[in-house]
Amino acid sequence: MSRLFTPLTIGGVALANRIAVSPMCQYSAVDGSATDWHAQHLGSLSLSGAGLLIFEATAVEAAGRITPGCLGLYSDANEAALEPVLALCRRWGGARLGIQLAHAGRKASAKVPWRGGGPLSAAEGAWQTAGASAIPFDDGWPAPHELDAGGLARICEAFVAAARRAHRLGFDLVELHGAHGYLLHSFVSPVSNQRRDDYGGSLANRMRFPLDVAAAVRAVWPRDKALGMRITGSDWVEGGLTAADAAIFAQELAVAGFDYVCVSSGGVSPKAHVHVSPGYQVPFAATVKARADIVVQSVGMIVDPHQAEAIVAEGRADCVALARGFLDDPRWAWHAADALGAEAACPPQYQRARPKLWPGAALAHPPRN
Ligand SMILES: Cc1cc2nc3c(=O)[nH]c(=O)nc-3n(C[C@H](O)[C@H](O)[C@H](O)COP(=O)(O)O)c2cc1C
Repeated sequence: MSRLFTPLTIGGVALANRIAVSPMCQYSAVDGSATDWHAQHLGSLSLSGAGLLIFEATAVEAAGRITPGCLGLYSDANEAALEPVLALCRRWGGARLGIQLAHAGRKASAKVPWRGGGPLSAAEGAWQTAGASAIPFDDGWPAPHELDAGGLARICEAFVAAARRAHRLGFDLVELHGAHGYLLHSFVSPVSNQRRDDYGGSLANRMRFPLDVAAAVRAVWPRDKALGMRITGSDWVEGGLTAADAAIFAQELAVAGFDYVCVSSGGVSPKAHVHVSPGYQVPFAATVKARADIVVQSVGMIVDPHQAEAIVAEGRADCVALARGFLDDPRWAWHAADALGAEAACPPQYQRARPKLWPGAALAHPPRN
């Protein structure tokens, strides 16, 4: 029997299987508000058969957007724009719904990828970024403001306010973005954090701000829902974060009452040498799973159903998330279920496409009506 297709409960949320659609920025929002692109993109993915669909990195304040096209949840207008998208996914789709709350920190104020990425120019509407330390992400990037106590409190409160909005909207799960070089990660990593106060220096100090945010969000996010963080398994640079650090951070999150972590990597330094190969981040997830008392999700070049099955069956992670695999094949979980002899949710409107309803004769003469 497939382990990938056995149910999993994260916090108070029961998932039909251990497959998630990973958060994916679409750079298609207007002033942080979702558009009809989000409705069709997420609506389609809610039919994918995955137990969980996580909405893209969603900024908790306007200055925390990666690009001007990034989704936000910092205004009444942002909240109102997400409402029909959620309603659509809930009405027609089978997946439980999560949202990733984020602040891009020193990597904010960037161009959308199809306009070349990299920092916006003043003429393009660049805004002042903020970070753990006043260190630019790379040559040609602006130096962020080093956040002071007032700035930290403002951003912490912005995460709390966005979590309240996410609850009001009816999301089942909130994931804080603590990876890919964005603000929370930039505090934990010694590459981007060179502060001399209580938020810099030792790992305990560098974890302090993300853990403050985690505690503040935990205090307002209902226990019968699910709460997690995407964390960093490796910075891929000498002296950067390692899987051992990730395990310590994950255990602190467990103590803070978090239900899961998703273990990703990279993004804090353009000098990183990331060794990308199928399942390349699974070893980081396995280290966290062995050492921390928390549900662990693995992500990163998980593409084949048997590969995903083995990761879960061998106990290297409790569940998996896929990003590009679902863009390429929005019915990935249906096809994984076929490959593994399992079942995945399929709406009645599409059931005539399922292979087991297509006996050989019908394949030769596909149904006409
Ligand atoms: C189009 C696109 C947008 C992404 N946006 C996000 C995001 O909003 N938040 C995040 O944590 N990761 C984001 N990622 C990273 C993915 O969630 C995932 O971790 C990464 O692509 C590796 O998984 P994959 O090999 O299955 O694609 C994005 C990836 C892609 C391809």
